[in-house]
Amino acid sequence: MRTVLVTGASRGMGLEFVRQYLARGDRVFACVRLPGQSSVWPDLAAAHPGRLTVLTLDLAHHEEFGVFAAVLADHCQSLDLLINNAGLMASGERYGSVLGRNLIDSFTTNAAAPLLLTQALTPLLSHGQSPTVLMLSSELASIAQRKAFHTPSYSISKAALNMATRLLAFELSAKGIGCVALHPGWVQTDMGGPQAPLLAVDAVRAMLAFVDQLRPEQHGGFFSSDGTRLPW
Ligand SMILES: NC(=O)c1ccc[n+]([C@@H]2O[C@H](COP(=O)([O-])OP(=O)(O)OC[C@H]3O[C@@H](n4cnc5c(N)ncnc54)[C@H](OP(=O)(O)O)[C@@H]3O)[C@@H](O)[C@H]2O)c1
Repeated sequence: MRTVLVTGASRGMGLEFVRQYLARGDRVFACVRLPGQSSVWPDLAAAHPGRLTVLTLDLAHHEEFGVFAAVLADHCQSLDLLINNAGLMASGERYGSVLGRNLIDSFTTNAAAPLLLTQALTPLLSHGQSPTVLMLSSELASIAQRKAFHTPSYSISKAALNMATRLLAFELSAKGIGCVALHPGWVQTDMGGPQAPLLAVDAVRAMLAFVDQLRPEQHGGFFSSDGTRLPW
């Protein structure tokens, strides 16, 4: 049984990570901004007794991560997998009307929070079994692949997340913790929209397989779920 923590678990791929790790028999911490707002948690908790804990975590409040780590340490002595899944995409950005607020909020949630949360949870991860940090990145972060001025707040913040992944991998490898950035594909969620070709259930199944087969030399890299290395 692995101990898994998922951020942004309220919907989309985050909720699907929770469902699939619970279905595999793992212990799951589902982190959401508003735990009381969803009827899904009582049903999931009843279906998986003692293996689901829902915790409040707003990634915009990085000053609370120390307290959050202490709360988590009351529930578990180690963490095997941290999934930095929560993400934000500002819609409709056009050059000429890009807002500073969008750039800053995107950086806070998509780049700063995953790094700072990983830092706060490193003591728990260092006691885990094959501990791993999974960063939900995007091919829109690939500097080499960008061809137009699209989604600047998102792309810039996810490129910063990729750098955070690379830097963390150096520091964490000394503690036996892996860290990798993963593009899930274009997925039907609130963010991906209804035109996306992939269902969340299939995208998450592929990411679980990727994590299961992760090799030490892949840490610090940027991949799609089929294991293809993506250009920075
Ligand atoms: N969908 C795609 O095609 C696609 C492609 C590439 C990468 N990704 C990445 O995959 C991850 C999951 O995306 P998704 O498509 O499942 O997105 P989604 O359906 O829009 O869900 C986003 C999740 O992030 C949470 N979140 C946002 N800001 C937060 C904050 N400040 N604190 C805590 N939680 C916060 C949301 O919580 P609330 O419900 O409270 O708002 C929600 O649970 C993201 O990192 C995204 O960038 C998605």
